[in-house]
Amino acid sequence: MSDEMFSARIVPVVVLHDAKDAEPLGRALIAGGLPVAEVTFRTAAAVESIRAMSAIEGLIVGAGTVLNPAQVEQALEAGASFIVSPGLRRDVVFAAQAAGIPVLPGAVTPSEIMAAQELGLDTVKFFPANVYGGAGAIKALSAPFGGMRFVPTGGVSVSNLSDYLSLGCVPAVGGSWMVPVDAIREGAFAQVSELCAGAVAAAAAIGK
Ligand code: 3PG
Repeated sequence: MSDEMFSARIVPVVVLHDAKDAEPLGRALIAGGLPVAEVTFRTAAAVESIRAMSAIEGLIVGAGTVLNPAQVEQALEAGASFIVSPGLRRDVVFAAQAAGIPVLPGAVTPSEIMAAQELGLDTVKFFPANVYGGAGAIKALSAPFGGMRFVPTGGVSVSNLSDYLSLGCVPAVGGSWMVPVDAIREGAFAQVSELCAGAVAAAAAIGK
């Protein structure tokens, strides 16, 4: 799987209620040194937001909370370059694989991880990480599943970042703390850039 979206080791999980915010948000992410966004299909603005952000040079834009193959097609058509799903659905994985783009399905149990392996995947989303045992659970799962990588999301913050990023099987974490919905709604994009810069600095300070 191409690891481009993991370069900064943090993937901002973005919820946009209004597609007009997508472009300034994308620029704020770049300004903060975090040129990647997982735009979630939790709002009706997702597709247009992905389209607007995909047009920004240097920004890696993916789709999150993708629940079915129809949403994979919508995301692809809008320009998404990776797909994230909270769970493992074969037809979602197949649709992304057919398009040749990375797909990160959710898997938190041994059986789900084995199902991901069966589909040829070596990286899964571990969500909600804070509920399913956090870094301790990932560490335990990495014993039987040596080749598997985990991207924890859900409850990740600057305060527990090092618990996750210090694990060799964690290429990156996902989180929304640097893209607060209120800040976006208020147009406080400088604040978003600052939060991104803080997140990037915190990740860079953590050894692997
Ligand atoms: C996700 O969809 O990955 C999570 O909702 C992000 O979790 P967080 O808001 O706790 O960072």
